[in-house]
Amino acid sequence: MSPVPDPTTLLILGGTTEGYALAEALAGRPGVRVISSLAGRTPSPRRPAGELRSGGFGGVAGLKDYLAAEGVAAVVDATHPFAATMGEHAAAACAELAVPLLRLERPPWRPVPGDRWEPVADWDGAIAALRTLGARRVLLALGRQELAPFAVLDEIRFLIRCVSAPDPLPPFADAEILLDRGPFDLAAERALLDTHRIDCIVCKNSGGSASAAKLQAARERAIPVVMRERPARPASAVVADVAAAARWLRNALRSS
Ligand SMILES: NC(=O)c1ccc[n+]([C@@H]2O[C@H](COP(=O)([O-])OP(=O)(O)OC[C@H]3O[C@@H](n4cnc5c(N)ncnc54)[C@H](OP(=O)(O)O)[C@@H]3O)[C@@H](O)[C@H]2O)c1
Repeated sequence: MSPVPDPTTLLILGGTTEGYALAEALAGRPGVRVISSLAGRTPSPRRPAGELRSGGFGGVAGLKDYLAAEGVAAVVDATHPFAATMGEHAAAACAELAVPLLRLERPPWRPVPGDRWEPVADWDGAIAALRTLGARRVLLALGRQELAPFAVLDEIRFLIRCVSAPDPLPPFADAEILLDRGPFDLAAERALLDTHRIDCIVCKNSGGSASAAKLQAARERAIPVVMRERPARPASAVVADVAAAARWLRNALRSS
């Protein structure tokens, strides 16, 4: 009997819809072992198809050790567009070990006619933009770790929408917390802006459909959106969807 060849091991750096979808598409294929990696911040995350590992690797050195120990043949960085540190570590570790690396990233949102976006590079820029706009009733659609810089703005009433409660709540002069997670539909977003008389939104350019409805609702009301642009990422091969990622992997592994 001929020996069964070792499976090809793929590592997906996940925590996103795209990461789950890629694991689903690849796990179970003959000859392929799929490991998804999550940062481990969410207490009971959804389980991806295939194997799961959780928690930081311990920087570039820890990631290199992991790739070598598991015999990883290719890495797909499917982390969130704003998870830039993990992307840098993946680029450095893969370059040093000559492991093929693919970035799977949903395209950013682009403004369309009628949008009043104020693009900013960081939260200091967002605060300056809110002051310039004279905003008074602001929807902060951000992660709970990103709220603190906005507490300096005493003149603004904030509606803070995040997935889990900020603990501790930064010392806002006037803030209401709304715990909710997408997808958000257009009717609900329109109602939210109207009920709270929102005059400005602050968010990140995450892209995707789950949280895009607020942008249309804002456009309809001519409400400005302070949009934090994505951080730079190291140069690498990039695809926007799972089918393209699967094709890229097939080619990369054939030629490696
Ligand atoms: N930032 C966002 O807005 C956002 C939104 C939705 C989902 N997420 C997901 O949440 C995770 C953390 O985001 P972040 O912005 O804190 O990331 P980050 O700033 O890029 O990463 C910080 C550290 O967390 C660890 N880490 C991050 N992603 C990991 C993964 N998939 N597997 C193992 N370790 C990981 C790494 O630790 P070591 O250096 O120890 O390896 C990394 O250096 C990401 O996986 C991302 O996909 C982020």
